[in-house]
Amino acid sequence: MESLKNNRRSRSVLFCVFVLCIQLQLSLTGHCPADRRTWVSFKDKCYHFVHGEEDKIKSYTFESAKTLCRGFELLTIQSAEENDFVIKYSPEVWKGTVNVWLGMYYDTNSDNMMWFGDDPVLFTNWEDSSPSDLVPVETCVSLHSNTGKWENVSCLEEVENGVVCETDQKAEVAKQKPNALLSALVILSVVAIMGVSAVIWFLHQKHNLGSTILTAFEYHPPFRVLDTDQSCLVEAEETDSVP
Ligand SMILES: *[C@@H]1O[C@H](CO)[C@@H](O)[C@H](O)[C@H]1NC(C)=O
Repeated sequence: MESLKNNRRSRSVLFCVFVLCIQLQLSLTGHCPADRRTWVSFKDKCYHFVHGEEDKIKSYTFESAKTLCRGFELLTIQSAEENDFVIKYSPEVWKGTVNVWLGMYYDTNSDNMMWFGDDPVLFTNWEDSSPSDLVPVETCVSLHSNTGKWENVSCLEEVENGVVCETDQKAEVAKQKPNALLSALVILSVVAIMGVSAVIWFLHQKHNLGSTILTAFEYHPPFRVLDTDQSCLVEAEETDSVP
């Protein structure tokens, strides 16, 4: 019985490692929206640089930029790295200098600029210029793709030629297509577990000729495939405490 107990324990450890591997794999793969647009990821965000028709002059009012990105945010820049990412990626999409609308507005409650989504503005990259004479509530911001500097412009009158939509990466486990490596891992693990089980079964039968299939099954609780990490631990503890 001692060897059977040990086998059971090592089998449940093997199974826990297998489950943890899958969970790690799934949580590490973030996802950009699967619409027909091109999304690029940087850190934990996804960006869609809006392409205009090649020959047409692109021009977007602040309202039309928001409409284009409906369901997502306009570009939100929280760090110097993110600002750099945008100016480095711009030439891949656009010819020449483009001024991109930022998803920022003047919040009358706090008397400060705020990001849509209500994040406070912690990083700024204003260009050096004399303070604008814009009414604060009509103040919007555009980013120059050549310098990375930000400028205050009128939300109502200004027309810019660049729009970037932004959203968080999501770990959409249900929609995810398993990749080849993961599939191979699953198949290998199942084969390994079945092989180990068969050996244990064989040894058990050999050592307990008198025992019936029924009692054998009592000592082999079926795997609970949907077990979480926690119950894996509990199971391991239970196994340990068997006298
Ligand atoms: C742009 O406007 C905001 C809000 O009024 C202000 O805090 C910021 O200093 C302005 N930037 C420049 C360069 O004028």
